[in-house]
Amino acid sequence: MPISIHFQYADGRRETRLTDTGQSLMRAATAADVDGIVAMCGGCLSCATCHVIVAPEWLALLPPAASDEQSMLEMTASERQAGSRLACQIALEPGLDGLVVTVPEAQ
Ligand code: FES
Repeated sequence: MPISIHFQYADGRRETRLTDTGQSLMRAATAADVDGIVAMCGGCLSCATCHVIVAPEWLALLPPAASDEQSMLEMTASERQAGSRLACQIALEPGLDGLVVTVPEAQ
């Protein structure tokens, strides 16, 4: 099912991408050439270069980060924030249509 994801950047830019559910946010972002999502490990949870900050109003709709994601979030290049998540661990579902995430300055 197609959904829209809004990506915000540190410089104030905001881009919207139409993507499909049934994949991770990281896969959707890299396929759509979203700036700043490096995803060096390809989604195997060993790089923390897919760091995004989920907007507060969306955070509660996501399952909580598992312990291995929590551990990797300690290694992000940009400072971890309350909404920090790894995009490879966010499964896109229809309920996330309109999701807003910020791409940090550094990965
Ligand atoms: S792509 Fe490497 S941890 Fe997400």
